[in-house]
Amino acid sequence: MTVMHSNGDTPQATDVPNCTTDLSIEDVKQELYNRHHPSLTFLDIEAHAKTIHKIRMLKQKHNVVMLGHNYMEPLVFGLSEKEEQGDSLGLSMYAANTDAPYLIFNGVPFMAETAKILNPSKTVLVADKSAGCSLADNFGAEDVRKLKSLYPGAPVMIYINSYADAKAESDICCTSANAAHIAKTMPGDTLIFVPDIFFAQNLEEELRDEKNIVYPGKDNTARGAVCEVHEKFTLDDLLAIRESFEIPKGHAHRKLYAHWECRPNVLKEADFYGSTSQIMKDIAERVAANQLERAFVASECELTSNLAQEFPEVQFWTACSVRCSHMAQVSLNKIGNILEAIDQDDDLSEFEITLSSEIIAKARTPIERMLEASV
Ligand code: 13P
Ligand code: SF4
Repeated sequence: MTVMHSNGDTPQATDVPNCTTDLSIEDVKQELYNRHHPSLTFLDIEAHAKTIHKIRMLKQKHNVVMLGHNYMEPLVFGLSEKEEQGDSLGLSMYAANTDAPYLIFNGVPFMAETAKILNPSKTVLVADKSAGCSLADNFGAEDVRKLKSLYPGAPVMIYINSYADAKAESDICCTSANAAHIAKTMPGDTLIFVPDIFFAQNLEEELRDEKNIVYPGKDNTARGAVCEVHEKFTLDDLLAIRESFEIPKGHAHRKLYAHWECRPNVLKEADFYGSTSQIMKDIAERVAANQLERAFVASECELTSNLAQEFPEVQFWTACSVRCSHMAQVSLNKIGNILEAIDQDDDLSEFEITLSSEIIAKARTPIERMLEASV
């Protein structure tokens, strides 16, 4: 695994202003330079300023909401206003409540499906409908039905990283920000959790005195999946990172973070684990208390790129080989193409998420139950 150091400069992040009226390409360049992002060189800025300018002007002209998942590369992430950025839970909540006619979801298709289910009258668009996800792609409605037949009467909690057909067969949905909480609210001793096997094992450990968590592959032959990105981190990697970057376990100002989708022994080794936003929140709180000087985050590498911009006072290292190839399908050019198609009133079917009304109705119940249980 290749690990890189963020540079030692201490830039001040400057937010992109909300109002883009009369914004020139030079203004866009200046804003990008003002970000002092450790991985944004003048080459990137000069190469992309024109496309970013076009996107921002058309976004405003057509009143487009542009949701950006925390794993988007910095230039794409920066296209979304602060309130349009977040983790799967936050973005679902935002999508449910927006009045904007167009919603461009900078993330993978299962996320955009959730937005469509929660707000079906809106036109929901993604840069690449075939982007995929190793969790969602390898699990479907038939797999849920099989588990239900193996554990009759046990409720099914499905991770949001799944497609609508699988959600439609499930009782409640969850994200990595609320899985443990929601599991505790479910009736009975046994809960089926799908499709993420590592996440299920981590949940099993967290709730060992409260719930019997069953999942694909646990005393059964049902099919499950893992996140191919988080799977890459091994315990040996984490121990090597601790040693080479001098982040000893339990150090007061140096922390090793891991996402719920990592292997159980990786989670145990981490100083803190959570969803992408929970990790960001913990970092923000420690920075505010002047208590974080160095961090490594065992998750998708662009999360760290975005953290490095937001918290320049912290030294971050990233593992560049741990990049989600699915998320990386979202590019400035593809986003620009969507907006041009809107502007020219072209056919949007290449980008638009469509689901049958039957699937929307069935998949909506588990997602709405999750949102009710999350507040
Ligand atoms: P969260 O943002 O919900 O933590 O999701 C992580 C992830 O893997 C999304 O694909
Ligand atoms: Fe899927 Fe990529 Fe998220 Fe892993 S990081 S769950 S592969 S979208």
